[in-house]
Amino acid sequence: MQKKVKSIMTIAFLGLALLLNLNMGCSKFQPAIGYNKNYQPDQPIPFDHSLHVGTYQMKCQYCHNQVERTKHANIPALSTCMNCHVQVKTDSPYIKEMNEKYQKGESIEWVRVHMLPDHVQFNHSAHVQKGVSCATCHGPIDTMNVVKQFSDLSMGWCVNCHRQSENKAPTNCSTCHH
Ligand code: HEC
Ligand code: HEC
Ligand code: HEC
Ligand code: HEC
Ligand code: HEC
Repeated sequence: MQKKVKSIMTIAFLGLALLLNLNMGCSKFQPAIGYNKNYQPDQPIPFDHSLHVGTYQMKCQYCHNQVERTKHANIPALSTCMNCHVQVKTDSPYIKEMNEKYQKGESIEWVRVHMLPDHVQFNHSAHVQKGVSCATCHGPIDTMNVVKQFSDLSMGWCVNCHRQSENKAPTNCSTCHH
């Protein structure tokens, strides 16, 4: 029994060492998913944060209204947009397209910007409830007409902030890894 536990631990340790090693060897050529700093894909409808949040002063939580309660920040449903756009700018071809989809009960296929690897767990509510602002991690979204990834989302970025004494955030591996 003792022996078995020991060998399992050795395998686990070797597995981890291998992972870390592989990362060192390949990172120059194959950036991990999260490393796409400045990634800024085109969206199917040119939704403009700088207009809605900057010019019209909408709160982030008007649309991302689950962000304080859940792991993932939700992308708003079309019905949230149509609160205004059944009346606002109805002559725009984009708003017409949105209205057609809305009438048919369809949704917009937004292209995802941020994406951590599957082995990492992140939780919005834990951060937002401790008063970490959206801008700390996402930058000046209120000036972006197209959203781009502001932070590199690397492990070093997460851990550096967790280590700062005023945060009292955990740094053990299992906090962020399953
Ligand atoms: C009127 C609704 C609305 C408001 C207000 C709004 N957003 Fe968004 N947000 C969206 C929509 C729709 C998307 C998906 C399309 C896109 O990426 O532009 C999105 C995407 C995002 C993304 C990228 C998500 C991904 O795919 O990784 C971030 C980050 C974000 N918003 C942060 C914010 C922050 C921070 C604020 C406040 C400063 C804010 N948003 C205000 C509607 C809104
Ligand atoms: C501590 C850093 C941090 C803070 C604070 C933060 N975010 Fe995020 N956000 C992230 C990370 C990391 C991801 C990628 C999560 C993933 O891929 O699982 C993300 C992803 C998103 C997404 C895409 C959907 C998702 O959950 O993957 C939206 C929308 C978003 N954030 C909006 C917001 C808004 C609005 C706020 C403020 C109310 C906020 N974020 C605060 C780090 C942060
Ligand atoms: C609180 C009201 C409100 C909400 C909610 C809202 N918008 Fe807007 N939107 C506006 C206003 C105001 C304008 C500017 C209209 C103008 O230029 O006269 C605008 C402009 C736009 C435009 C530019 C249209 C053009 O052709 O010039 C698009 C596209 C758009 N919004 C998409 C969205 C999407 C997608 C959502 C939901 C994620 C959304 N809006 C939610 C108020 C809103
Ligand atoms: C700007 C600072 C900052 C950044 C960047 C940051 N965190 Fe945090 N994190 C915190 C704070 C503060 C807490 C709350 C600690 C507490 O609950 O007392 C926290 C809590 C957490 C928790 C919940 C811990 C628990 O058990 O309640 C997880 C999981 C987490 N962070 C993962 C991540 C990951 C993964 C990243 C990077 C993708 C990240 N964090 C980036 C500051 C940060
Ligand atoms: C605060 C969150 C956080 C903590 C704590 C944390 N990690 Fe990570 N880790 C991440 C994130 C985010 C990534 C993905 C981005 C990257 O590869 O830098 C990652 C990636 C990794 C990878 C994969 C690298 C690759 O290229 O795929 C390994 C292995 C790893 N972490 C091991 C550990 C170990 C061992 C510990 C404990 C000593 C630890 N992590 C603690 C957030 C964390």
